[in-house]
Amino acid sequence: MKPHLSFPLKSLCVCVSDSSVSFPQAEIDAAVQLLLKLKVEYKQVTGQDYKAGCLPSESSVAPSNGPAADQDTVDPWNVSTTSAKGVDYDKLIVRFGSSKIDQELVDRIEKVSGQKPHRFLRRGIFFSHRDMHQVLDACEKQKSFYLYTGRGPSSEAMHVGHLIPFIFTKWLQDVFDIPLVIQLTDDEKYLWKDLTIEDCHRFAVENAKDIIACGFDVNKTFIFSDLDYMGASPEFYRNVVKIEKHVTFNQVKGIFGFTDSDSRGRNMMITSLPSRLFGNRKDIQCLIPCAIDQDPYFRMTRDVAPRIGYPKPALLHSTFFPALQGAQTKMSASDANSSIFLTDTPKQIKNKINKYAFSGGKDTVEEHRKYGGNPDVDVSFMYLTFFLDDDEQLEKIRQDYVSGALLTGELKKILIETLQPMIAQHQERRKQVTDETVKQFMTPRPLNFKL
Ligand code: TRP
Repeated sequence: MKPHLSFPLKSLCVCVSDSSVSFPQAEIDAAVQLLLKLKVEYKQVTGQDYKAGCLPSESSVAPSNGPAADQDTVDPWNVSTTSAKGVDYDKLIVRFGSSKIDQELVDRIEKVSGQKPHRFLRRGIFFSHRDMHQVLDACEKQKSFYLYTGRGPSSEAMHVGHLIPFIFTKWLQDVFDIPLVIQLTDDEKYLWKDLTIEDCHRFAVENAKDIIACGFDVNKTFIFSDLDYMGASPEFYRNVVKIEKHVTFNQVKGIFGFTDSDSRGRNMMITSLPSRLFGNRKDIQCLIPCAIDQDPYFRMTRDVAPRIGYPKPALLHSTFFPALQGAQTKMSASDANSSIFLTDTPKQIKNKINKYAFSGGKDTVEEHRKYGGNPDVDVSFMYLTFFLDDDEQLEKIRQDYVSGALLTGELKKILIETLQPMIAQHQERRKQVTDETVKQFMTPRPLNFKL
């Protein structure tokens, strides 16, 4: 386990206080040695040099390597928990140092946007934020902001969980009428997975079609692949270099848990991820909707931004979309049985849900009728909270499941009938996305927008 931060801080203060008393040389030497040791420890834990009187900055929170035994694992590469209810998100807010999206913030978003909050906000699926009040303050003063999000294209077919940030980003784009930049980190997937560069780039273009099928406005949206854009845009590479200058290897170890044997490429890539945030306008704030496992990237970005003259980006964090087998981990494209893909047929959707979706129901109909089911661990019910828009219908389903009036098979049927048309419609819209449309979205151009 990592030493607690306040320990070295406090000990350092004790060591250097009361300089008027004189000590024998041996004690002074020992104190100096202790001080040096604590400084090294401080640097190991925070990734930063100790500065008297300064708290470690935001990016040092929650190093991703080695959570304590009772902690959930949440970093850009791993998400897991031992609880069937899923990750403890309240604890995660404390650990990451972000803020909860409370009812007051949801009400404020409603007031400023003039729209009913999206079900992801109403139901706590987007549950955490950084500086969202600042974004709304700016909005109230008629100042605009822009959106940035992304996707690491690790396979040709995306699954339903991948849609969550894009469905929400589309809603934000519509209600606030703002430009959007979407980064496809094909370089990231090449560096982390056993894939060829060509495949990663091909997946980026294929995934762009699914993203476009979510309905983004071509006049306000720019999508880019790192592998293409890094060489094509001098501005982009300049920002990468600026960020690299301000991030030390120790910080990267602290934030991402990198070790001496991680490739140099991984180190470099993590700076390309936030780089697109920094265009040439230094007065416009960026808002990043993303799943909370991506937060380490943006803790680093928020640390660097003011040092290179930009406002810190604000964030809206979502929960994870559970695997079919249970909320102990998120849906993963590399495990076909854990996922419902956007390419699945109605029959595949039905079979996977019936066969794999973890049930909070009882073993026999009699027991279920008597004791009722548990929606808090039931994957079908969890999926409905993501996709069934009608609050009253959802609440009725929940109550009927808890009372035992609704059986697991019936609950699964409702989910199947919700997902089948949703995915069929997605496939229909995706078919309309031609190579020409992809090219339009992916061509660098001024967005049709006055900020
Ligand atoms: N790192 C993300 C992934 O592996 C992709 C990504 C790039 C991203 N930029 C982003 C995600 C911005 C959220 C927001 O999937």
